[in-house]
Amino acid sequence: MNERELIAKLNWVYSLELNQVDLYIAQARSVEDIYLAKTFARIAAIEQQHVDNIAAEIKRRGAEPTELGDVISPLLGKTTGFLSGLAGPKAMLKLNINLEEKAMQHYKSLIVKVGFDRRLFEVFWDNLIDEDIHTAWFANKLKELERLEQYSSP
Ligand SMILES: [Fe+2]
Ligand SMILES: [Fe+2]
Repeated sequence: MNERELIAKLNWVYSLELNQVDLYIAQARSVEDIYLAKTFARIAAIEQQHVDNIAAEIKRRGAEPTELGDVISPLLGKTTGFLSGLAGPKAMLKLNINLEEKAMQHYKSLIVKVGFDRRLFEVFWDNLIDEDIHTAWFANKLKELERLEQYSSP
């Protein structure tokens, strides 16, 4: 990976993290369950830290962070507009798990390529572990909602 390819990849990750901030804020506003809303908002704040740490890495290379627009739709193979057409909590959690897993795949594939840059290597690791924790929380909450539904159905 040369410097230009690395900057392009960083801008893509920067865009993905920005998309996740927007998505989780939208979800936080649309759910009634306060615990779910607070968690989405908190996770959005952590995604904002990722936006900031990736932006700092781009700037450290003398480039400007560039938002590439919606990178989630192509990543998940969904049509545009699904972000605004917010579904129920279970559908949100499934989408989020899918998205976090994709983000983790990208961080893992980047980590093995940037061993030459210790600082970038650590930033990618930090973000990867955060995404892993988000995935675990989403998956656990999804299981809980499914269990509740099972008991409440006639
Ligand atoms: Fe993130
Ligand atoms: Fe995340």
